Amino acid sequence: MIEKISFSATINGQKVGPMDVPQDLMMVELLQEYLNLTGTRLSCGQGMCSACRVIVDDPAKGTYTVAACVTGVAWLNGKTVRTIEGIAGEDGQGAPLPSAIQQAFLEHFSFQCSYCTPGFVNSATVLVEQLERSPIAADRVEDVVLESLDKHICRCTGYVRYYQAVKDVILSTPGLTHENPVVLERPA
Ligand code: FES
Ligand code: FES
Repeated sequence: MIEKISFSATINGQKVGPMDVPQDLMMVELLQEYLNLTGTRLSCGQGMCSACRVIVDDPAKGTYTVAACVTGVAWLNGKTVRTIEGIAGEDGQGAPLPSAIQQAFLEHFSFQCSYCTPGFVNSATVLVEQLERSPIAADRVEDVVLESLDKHICRCTGYVRYYQAVKDVILSTPGLTHENPVVLERPA
């Protein structure tokens, strides 16, 4: 017999549950098969490629991403999550408005088959939100983008365009970076 748990969470601002689900269900299955949120992509299924990454907003630990293919519903129970369906804003008349990251991906044509794109967008969104709280020097942007996205695998190898889109958002958004410190020369 399949053991079940009572599951509830907040997903993209909406309360979900309580609902009975198999206790060994993975988050990606819950999203796709129970909630019809099909934007989260299942690729390797082993926590290796980051295609399936979703955002967790945790009041105690902050905001971070997890791989939905290896994260079970028991862990997710009670948490607050954002998926790719929850990233866009709204234009005031009910139409979706791409986030700055999504808009930059469109402008840079930062996708080919797009299978890895939701995971990249979610991790880049978390990075931008971290920089809103804790800006970095402008000359560190390249390294920080590489570090933040280096777990993401794109089988179409579109990395250059992804990274450029994220760098452009960070460097063009006021408050995410500050000028590099001025190094004063010692008098001779
Ligand atoms: S599909 Fe989840 S990490 Fe690859
Ligand atoms: S665009 Fe095809 S896997 Fe990344």
